[in-house]
Amino acid sequence: MAKDPEDRLSVGEVARRTGVAVSALHYYEQLGLISSERTGGNQRRYPRYMLRRISLILVAKRLGIPLADVQEVFSTLPLDTIPSARDWRRVSKQWHGQLEQKRREIERLERELTGCIGCGCLSMKSCRLLNVDDELGERGPGPQRLEPTT
Ligand code: FES
Repeated sequence: MAKDPEDRLSVGEVARRTGVAVSALHYYEQLGLISSERTGGNQRRYPRYMLRRISLILVAKRLGIPLADVQEVFSTLPLDTIPSARDWRRVSKQWHGQLEQKRREIERLERELTGCIGCGCLSMKSCRLLNVDDELGERGPGPQRLEPTT
């Protein structure tokens, strides 16, 4: 952790500088996305470089990347130093892959929606927008969620 006490920020300062609510900062800390040290008076102090991690969380949020995915990526980053440019490239490459996958899914849904416009059948059998990836349909007609008892 940072040695210089001047390099540590209170939770209020971090909230003000990042625009993230104090409760959200506590939640991020609970998830292990950020960390703080405690003063003698048991107050949180965040190393200044936590601002960078919080910025990454905000970027992920803006991109629609779930916190669980951020957690996964952050678990590979050192918590006690600023993420390096190399770390950032690795994170951004992973997120780029996820966004690319989302983009393809949206394009597929757009194509299916085009087929549905003007149709209106809302058929559980043939409408792929209504019944996406009908895996249970392979088991036969009718409700398929209940598992058979032995
Ligand atoms: S609404 Fe008819 S196929 Fe989707």
